[in-house]
Amino acid sequence: MAESSPPAVELSGVSLSYGGRRDRVLALGPVDARIEAGEFVVIVGPSGCGKSTLLRLVAGFAPPSEGTVHVDGAPVAGPGPDRGVVFQQPRLFPWLSVRRNVEFGLRTTGVPRAERRARSAGLLELVGLGDSAARRPYELSGGMQQRAAIARALAPDPAILLMDEPFAALDALTRERLQEEIRRIWQATGKTVLFVTHSVDEAVFLGTRILVLSRRPGRIVLDRSAPPRSAGPRTRPSSLALREEVAAAVRDAAA
Ligand SMILES: Nc1ncnc2c1ncn2[C@@H]1O[C@H](COP(=O)(O)OP(=O)(O)O)[C@@H](O)[C@H]1O
Ligand SMILES: [Mg+2]
Repeated sequence: MAESSPPAVELSGVSLSYGGRRDRVLALGPVDARIEAGEFVVIVGPSGCGKSTLLRLVAGFAPPSEGTVHVDGAPVAGPGPDRGVVFQQPRLFPWLSVRRNVEFGLRTTGVPRAERRARSAGLLELVGLGDSAARRPYELSGGMQQRAAIARALAPDPAILLMDEPFAALDALTRERLQEEIRRIWQATGKTVLFVTHSVDEAVFLGTRILVLSRRPGRIVLDRSAPPRSAGPRTRPSSLALREEVAAAVRDAAA
């Protein structure tokens, strides 16, 4: 039953401080949030407010200073194949082909070669790199490298995709194309996505739910469901009011 299944991600009284006793900085929180499976949650907020910190906590790269982070009902004890991460920079291995980059995590977990091949081929098709499997990262444009990074993150078939400003370094046109693409992938795979961005337009275009964080220490100052959207014009009257509301919250947060 849907009602009895645990949330995909649950943050309870979560905060994180960096530094030691003498230079302690509260970077995030306290934050409470319950994210259901299949949501596309976009996190927006001023620079340095703790957005990356929040994703790192869910990824299991660091434990919270206070509170608890649960994924699919279990406390997060570290990184795991149930969570895929995409960073602002693609961070591909330059000496490996695109295919081997995508298969890297599968090799280390002992997935047999035939299955690795099948999975990487399918994922490279999914992100539009079917023809580039044998190429090296330096032979690809920035947008193509980021597609490869998305395929790599999807390879272990994670239930949750954590994306930290994944399109921020791309030119506007490539960025729009990849936004369409990630929405299509999300629709096709039904994954839960946590997506950090600086861009209100990107947030409104992608999110089924938008969280706005205050300036450091980041706390949730707005939590809005976005109306479900289907393919169509990027800007529709129904999204303009939401855009204004989110933009105002981000402005207030940064002030
Ligand atoms: N490893 C670290 N050591 C000390 N301070 C850090 C560290 N990482 C981040 N911070 C600080 O924590 C705050 C939140 O950082 P971050 O989560 O990266 O913000 P955002 O992603 O929203 O820009 C910032 O003020 C940043 O300077
Ligand atoms: Mg960041």
